[in-house]
Amino acid sequence: MAYIVDHIIILVYNRPKNIFKIMNNSNIHHYITTPIYYINDLPHIGHAYTSVICDVYARFQRMTGCKVFFVTGTDEHGQKIAKSALNKEMPIAQYVDIFAKEFLKLADGLKCSYDDFIRTTEKRHEIVVCDIWNRLLSRGHIYLDKYAGFYSVRDEAFYGEDEIVDGLAPTGSAVEWVEEESYFFDLSKWQEPLMEFYEQNPNFIYPKSRFNEVKSFVKGGLRDLSISRKSVSWGIKVPDNNKHTIYVWIDALSNYLTTLKFPDESNELYRNFWNESDNALKIHVIGKDILRFHAVYWPAILMAAELPLPSKLIVHGWWMADGQKMSKSIGNVVNPFDVINQYGLDTFRCFMITAMKIGNDGNFTLRDVTKINNTVLADIIGNLLSRTMKLIGTYFDYRVPDGSNLSDQDIDILNHGYDLPNLLIEQFQEFDLNESLNLLIRFAHRLNQYFSLFEPWILVKKDLKAASNVLYTAIESIRILSIMLYPFIPDASLRMMSIFSMTDVDLRLSFVVDRKLIGKELLKPLNSVLFQKIDLHGLH
Ligand code: MSP
Repeated sequence: MAYIVDHIIILVYNRPKNIFKIMNNSNIHHYITTPIYYINDLPHIGHAYTSVICDVYARFQRMTGCKVFFVTGTDEHGQKIAKSALNKEMPIAQYVDIFAKEFLKLADGLKCSYDDFIRTTEKRHEIVVCDIWNRLLSRGHIYLDKYAGFYSVRDEAFYGEDEIVDGLAPTGSAVEWVEEESYFFDLSKWQEPLMEFYEQNPNFIYPKSRFNEVKSFVKGGLRDLSISRKSVSWGIKVPDNNKHTIYVWIDALSNYLTTLKFPDESNELYRNFWNESDNALKIHVIGKDILRFHAVYWPAILMAAELPLPSKLIVHGWWMADGQKMSKSIGNVVNPFDVINQYGLDTFRCFMITAMKIGNDGNFTLRDVTKINNTVLADIIGNLLSRTMKLIGTYFDYRVPDGSNLSDQDIDILNHGYDLPNLLIEQFQEFDLNESLNLLIRFAHRLNQYFSLFEPWILVKKDLKAASNVLYTAIESIRILSIMLYPFIPDASLRMMSIFSMTDVDLRLSFVVDRKLIGKELLKPLNSVLFQKIDLHGLH
């Protein structure tokens, strides 16, 4: 990714201190996707997590001036969904409409800035799935045979006899024996090309440990993949043979091209975000349970269909509750709306990013959500804002204090702030969203310490000039934070920005250095506190 490297070199190293210029990034395209969620039940924290990660990334990259296309949606076909409709005694078409809305509600409730929401029951998607099928068929990669093996409806996955232990799939899911006519994809032929691709793209999968897992799986040999079901009717029919339904994972993975208006290859979306690989970063964010589908099946299908491959898989871990993966079938799920309603969206988003590093598993407790709310958002960020604004309101009538005589210490703090865009660009390259937000929190913490050290509430009474430098440094740093926090906690960031009459329209990282505050500008007071503290009592 030479262009990314150039971009970083120019931003990070080729600049005199504090003066950085964001290159014209408008020719760099980031395509970022969540998995499409099964609508077999209501959304939970696990789904919310993937969506929040993608949204933070999308918002940040837009602020660098890059073009972003961010997509999420719902996976609505297959036995798992058909069974859920049956259990709820609903006609399936009605069932999917109702449950897809819940996931749309989640995306909106999380303020996901998605550009498209795909449902696999849409006509536009069927066209793409059939097109990919026909591409594979016409290139000789699909043949008709008989499948005899196990199938897990919960995982929507085929398992060989050798994989079954004590009657269960390796995932612990129940399996059923299936013996029926089926179309197959010649996956076994793609072992070598896949290994070559992995070799040539050493950063294809993050974290590395997951990449190694994939490589050793592929090294062990691949079996051809059954890609149609005769006994399943809820799904897209095989072109020219409507006795067969296309395997739900072939259907689902194709969604990544539907939203780019494939098969119209001359279309700008497809061209810019998928086809012209030199300027397109194509990122699928997924949980570790669906790695094989994305790291093995999807690239092999694309190779066979003679289409470009994704650039990167970001593989996150699981939210656990009581030591087990949170999942509806275990019955230990937390409803994200309950947490958002109780704590507010920003606290929820901040918790999701700070509590778990991408790749690790994390335990979900309301006590930890409360702690983030109280100790980070209220005590560090909220407190910094309220104490600064209170003094500026009382002693400077909401005018930006004069900052023309800054001390070395003031300058040092501001330089730290002006450097944050560069530091975060580096962290986002590594997909370290957790460290990115921590860098901002540590900056705010440093400001609070600075505040306590210089005691501007005492200075205002005896040396207004000295107080003015301290308060200028604080309010200018708050302005920087208000911009930098936008991808993570957009609501609070917007409220902070409103003090400076800023909005998120065309918001750019470069504003951090391009729009410095000038003494005597007028600030707008906030009429309520940014974050309310929540009582920890009774939480565990
Ligand atoms: N429909 C498939 C994906 C098809 S993508 C072409 C699917 N859906 S899912 O709803 O079961 O899972 C969607 C995502 O949510 C997966 O990335 C999965 O890892 C994630 N999570 C589900 N439970 C989770 C946790 N408890 N914790 C974190 N994420 C987990 O798989």
